[in-house]
Parts: sequence; C-alpha cells; structure tokens
Amino acid sequence: MNNVDILAIETSCDETAAAVVRNGREVLSNVIYTQIDMHTIYGGVVPELASRAHVEKINFVIRKALDDAGKTLDDMDAVAVTYGPGLVGALLVGVAEAKAIAWAAGKPLIGVHHIEGHICANYIEHPDLKPPYLGLVVSGGHTHLIIVEDWAKFRILGRTVDDAAGEAFDKVARAIGLGYPGGPKIDKVSKEGNSEAIVFPKAKVNGSEYDFSFSGLKSAVLNYLNHAQMTGEEVRKADLAASFQKAVVDVLCEHTMRAAKDFGMREVALAGGVASNSALRAALARECERRGLHLSVPSPGYCTDNAAMIGVAAFHEYQAGARSGWDLNAVPNLRLGER
Ligand code: KG4
Ligand code: ZN
Repeated sequence: MNNVDILAIETSCDETAAAVVRNGREVLSNVIYTQIDMHTIYGGVVPELASRAHVEKINFVIRKALDDAGKTLDDMDAVAVTYGPGLVGALLVGVAEAKAIAWAAGKPLIGVHHIEGHICANYIEHPDLKPPYLGLVVSGGHTHLIIVEDWAKFRILGRTVDDAAGEAFDKVARAIGLGYPGGPKIDKVSKEGNSEAIVFPKAKVNGSEYDFSFSGLKSAVLNYLNHAQMTGEEVRKADLAASFQKAVVDVLCEHTMRAAKDFGMREVALAGGVASNSALRAALARECERRGLHLSVPSPGYCTDNAAMIGVAAFHEYQAGARSGWDLNAVPNLRLGER
C-alpha cells in the first residue's frame, strides 16, 4: 500500500495546531501553539483574541509541522482542517488557510469534525482499536456518549443538555478561585481533598437516559459556597473540588457502563480534554476491568486539542472518499455525522 500522508490543521478554540499523519496511525509531527497564557488573564477564552493569535501563528505552526516531519507540502496527499464545531472566527482562520494551501498545491481538501478528531486520537496509540465500540467524548464544549459504528459512522446515544463536562470544571474552578483552565487545576487540588466530604445531588435529565446535565451541579457548588460565605463557615477548597470532581466522574462512568451493557459493547474509548482527568481515567479503568471491558484512553497530550487527531480522522474520511469543496465554510455548531 502506498503511504497516505495528510497535513492537518486545527484552530477551533485556543490552540493553533498542525500535524503530519501517515496512514491514520503514525504521527510524523505534531505542533501545538497554545494560547492559554493569553486567555488566563481574562479567566477564559476571548474569541476575538483567539482568532487574531491564530492568524499570527498559523503559518509558522504549519511550516514547523512540515519541517519536523521532513516533508514538503508537495509530499502531502491531502490537506485536512477542522471546520466545526468551535468558535467561528477561530475556525475560519484554519479553514481559509487550509483552502488556500490545498488549492495552491493542487491537493484534495478534507473538512473534519472536531469531535470525530477527538475520538480518532485513540487510534494513534491503540493500533488494535477498531469499530464498533462505545466512545465517551468529554471536552470543554462537548459531552457525548457515542457508538462508533464504523470508521466514519457514529450514533449518538446521549449528550449534555446544558454545560459540557469541561465547562463545568472551568466554571467551578473560577468560583473557587483556581483560575483558567479549571480542569487541570481541579484535578491537581482534588488529590489533596476528600471526595466524600460533600455529597452533591445527581441531576435528573428529561430526555434520553444517556443524556447528561452539569449546570445543576455547578449551581449546587455555587450555592454551597454562598451558604458557607453567609454563615462564615470555612470552605476546604480541596474537599469541594474533589467532591465536585467525583460527582462528574460518577455520572460519566455510570452512563458509560450502562450503555456498554445495554448495547453489548466490549470496547470503550475515552476522548477529549477532560479525558486527561486522572480521577476519570482511574474510575473508568476500574469499572471496565470489573466488567471485563477493554478501555482505550489517549495520552494526555492527545486528549486536549491537537492536529494529529484531525489527521487521523481525515485519513478515514479520505479512505471513505470524502472530499470538501473550495466553498468549505466554518460551521460553529456542526453536528456529528453531518456533512
Ligand atoms: O478538548 P479540549 O482541549 O477543547 C475542547 O474541544 O473543548 O478540552 C478543554 C477542556 C477544558 O474545559 C479543560 O478544563 C478540560 O478540557 N480539561 C480537564 C483536564 N485537562 C483539561 N478537565 C478535567 N481534568 C483535567 N485534567
Ligand atoms: Zn477539543
């Protein structure tokens, strides 16, 4: 088989990233310029600043990805780019860039769904993983429980009806003064805390039994803080963080295990920025082991946004014959499975 080398570009949020991926498995280069320091000053991602920083860094990041791989644009079989979901201005930078260089170099263009990219991150380090399997995607913008029926075919069982899991981490971290991005900070401080200290209520969701809701939990944390402030009670941040984290992890694990049982899935894959959470990784590993299920989790660097995962997803789209036109546009609320 001839090698298929794809240059992939990702600019959906606050990481400017480019990668060269061979045959959907082998990462020849993976360059990420993170804007986190800039957004930290404002306590969250400022869309206008994100777009501007993408414009400033994108050419450098792409050039470095090709150089690190020892390749030129001419060597590429296709140019892939995340075209949704995400921040529209941020997405547009990547989409415009990918169209320009693909057109100039005479290469096919492949628009990739960001969530599909997150799921595909698992193929990089787990060569035996193949559909069908159950996927749990937990990021700053998304919480999806999915059956990956085929390489580029997905069936959504449940999703969040309000905040995404990562969003809840970020909001709670801000409320207890840990700053942005909240997930890694809550993860760290929770290690010093007692996760049984506070019992937060489990959300009931009207809709699919696999749907999630995190805004009630976030409000419960804020109410707890307000109450403590009014009564002058001391709040142990580490206990609060650990108890909140446990509530999120418990519901994610429960739904995933129930879906695995209901749909007879023996294989589970975790993905997205929140997949780097140590408590979630440990709990899912434990629950899967108890039931004899096989769990795949990417290394933390492939959980948060990167372009290597986009290159992997693009390979499967490429093999399936998918090609985007020169009218490819950014679609901020693109749904999984839509083209
Ligand atoms: O996948 P990602 O990089 O971007 C989106 O597509 O949204 O995910 C970023 C999210 C943020 O909300 C961040 O707080 C969360 O992932 N996150 C974590 C951890 N590391 C990143 N959440 C919990 N624990 C972590 N260790
Ligand atoms: Zn993401």
